Amino acid sequence: MKKLIKNNVYWVGKTDWELRKFHGNEYSTHKGSTYNSYLIKEEKTVLIDTVWAPFKEEFVDNLANEIDLKSIDYIIANHGEVDHSGALTELMKHIPDTPIYCTANAVKSLKGQYHKDWNFNIVKTGDKIDIGNKKELIFVEMSMLHWPDSMATFLTGDNILFSNDAFGQHLATESLFNDKVDECELFAESIKYYANILTPFSAVLRRKLDEITAFNLQIDIIATSHGVIWRDNPMQIVEQYAKWANDYKENQITVIYDTMWNGTKTLAENIAKGIKDADTDTIVKVFNLAKTDENDLVTEVFKSKLIVLGSPTMSNTVLHSVAGFIHILKQMRFKDKKAASFGCYGWSGESVKVLNGLLSDAGFEVITDGLKNLWNPDEDAKKAAQEFGKSLVKQ
Ligand code: FEO
Repeated sequence: MKKLIKNNVYWVGKTDWELRKFHGNEYSTHKGSTYNSYLIKEEKTVLIDTVWAPFKEEFVDNLANEIDLKSIDYIIANHGEVDHSGALTELMKHIPDTPIYCTANAVKSLKGQYHKDWNFNIVKTGDKIDIGNKKELIFVEMSMLHWPDSMATFLTGDNILFSNDAFGQHLATESLFNDKVDECELFAESIKYYANILTPFSAVLRRKLDEITAFNLQIDIIATSHGVIWRDNPMQIVEQYAKWANDYKENQITVIYDTMWNGTKTLAENIAKGIKDADTDTIVKVFNLAKTDENDLVTEVFKSKLIVLGSPTMSNTVLHSVAGFIHILKQMRFKDKKAASFGCYGWSGESVKVLNGLLSDAGFEVITDGLKNLWNPDEDAKKAAQEFGKSLVKQ
């Protein structure tokens, strides 16, 4: 069912209420998602992106109910990833010769995935196509935001930026627009999306935001490929991205641990108490890694100025949950974040040293040798953990 965006522009995507994991199992989507596809009906009829492959028949059936598929003059593939290109295989059965406009890298990704030699037309930043009624589509390459093949498309006249993944959120909704959904929920999903998907590309994003600004485009609507469309003050999300791309941190310290018999957990809670006692303004959060969604935790790390990471020693090293999480942190390429480590042990006690090495390798500035505790913490050890927390604040 198509929904009106503005004038002759319609949403023809798919709302996926059930989605709980995305990118395989790499990204949790507690609130589902949408795959936004757009139809423009000017003198030329244009389709921008499609939907994820499992919905390809439904997508094409719905589209065929709205328009004669053969009336589509151009297809714009802003990005080759399967959640936006997945319905092309079904669609192109009906209109095999329709030109597909995309970047050179998107030709590689689309051919690599679907092994079809469709009518590809390669575009670069600044290239335009005339769609009639004095309106044009202008292309802007968005390489590494977040794939090498990504681009955005700007519709003149209506001033809509079809930004693809950039500025999106994994948020299933029938409401379509940012002013029609809960603002807190929208912000939470937007920052999680940035933290988990775009953090590694923050430097690229800073340059790209400057480039888009230099175009001096009047942007009235930002039509993303996931979640809601920004029509109420659309530049708010661009301004937010500019903040997030600039080594973002809040006045937050996050204590993250896994534990076997609660010794390291006891340290974690006392470290958090020490931090709060030393500075009541600092937001302190504590998470058991094994019981917390990793993508939500990445978001908490994104917001933190310092993380304090704990693991007991097991087999001369750290628990696999902690090692795996640091692997994710390394992928994120966080900049300008501090770290410290702690852990209980019964025999050899290597975990803190191992954690320091892993955190340093992941790009964190390790600010202390860390806190080790032999066996379960007694009252003195709890006080020592609190003092350790206080010392972190001072550093
Ligand atoms: Fe939403 Fe990179 O695909």
